[in-house]
Amino acid sequence: MQSSERANPNERNDADLKQLYADFEAQNLMPLWTQTNDLMPFHPKPKAVPHVWKWSTLYPLAQRSGDLVPVGRGGERRAIGLANPGLGGRAYISPTLWAAIQYLGPKETAPEHRHAQNAFRFVVEGEGVWTVVNGDPVRMSRGDFLLTPGWHFHGHHNETEHPMAWIDGLDIPFSYQNDVGFFEFGSERVTDYATPAFSRGERLWCHPGLRPLSGLQNTVSSPIGAYRWEFTDRALTEQLLLEEEGQPATVEQGHAAIRYINPTTGGDVMPTIRAEFHRLREGVQTPGRREVGSSVFQVFDGRGAVQLGDTLHKLEKGDIFVVPSWIRWSLQAETPFDLFRFSDAPIMERLNFARTQVDGDER
Ligand SMILES: [Fe+2]
Repeated sequence: MQSSERANPNERNDADLKQLYADFEAQNLMPLWTQTNDLMPFHPKPKAVPHVWKWSTLYPLAQRSGDLVPVGRGGERRAIGLANPGLGGRAYISPTLWAAIQYLGPKETAPEHRHAQNAFRFVVEGEGVWTVVNGDPVRMSRGDFLLTPGWHFHGHHNETEHPMAWIDGLDIPFSYQNDVGFFEFGSERVTDYATPAFSRGERLWCHPGLRPLSGLQNTVSSPIGAYRWEFTDRALTEQLLLEEEGQPATVEQGHAAIRYINPTTGGDVMPTIRAEFHRLREGVQTPGRREVGSSVFQVFDGRGAVQLGDTLHKLEKGDIFVVPSWIRWSLQAETPFDLFRFSDAPIMERLNFARTQVDGDER
């Protein structure tokens, strides 16, 4: 059995030792033996904490920002970051991930810019905004998952008389921590105000099982700007129908799930962010699991709950929660329950830190 604390090999506290530590400090040195438990724990001990943000709280606050804060060059976006209470006041939902609610008022334009950080949008409600990514106008509608990979110019414009809000996900904390960020301003207005139903990227790439011969070169991020709700919904519906027919299709009994992929590689949509959509049948409870790396979920539809560590949190449409590294989590569906999920799994897998532990699974 492992002890939860490792012994300090040097408990002496005489004057020589005090002087040694003072001399270390004067030379910008720190002994490992006084900080092993923190630097090299037996398992991940995240400073980020599990937390739930209610949509019924987030949306009215975003609305008030819409009344009081203009959107334009400088601030760039009316986006409100979800700050993990364990991360010292920064707008980081986890050590690697950023999540924000973004709000665009009637007829507003968010100017174009680009940055090294990878970004996506997920739309839990509303329509009428187009995001223009490297000059390609992409419609944003309920249930759509939209990509803005690193260093792609992007701006948004609302064509309607009503506001629209959605969530943004980025790798800002990871980029900040590792000093990899670049940023560049683009056009004050979006470069193309056309409002096509489908972007050029979708017209080229979104035909099931078909790859254009003009696109045989693999790309690090997906060339698809929007993953439409119609396809996601149909894929999940078919998984559950196949399960009813006794065919293997779901990830667990009553749990359908898809991963959004880069069609050139079959891998994740962007180098740092994984995105998935999960659908549970009414009454289903997923086995408790914990994973290295952090995840964020948003309830798209239905009611249920999530067990995060020792606490059960009730959930309804729009609610967002974060699962920090190695925190045990389990979903419970009170009604048919749809959830969008994103995570830093591509980073953890690429660097060989990924680990998963599922209740009842002794692998
Ligand atoms: Fe941006």
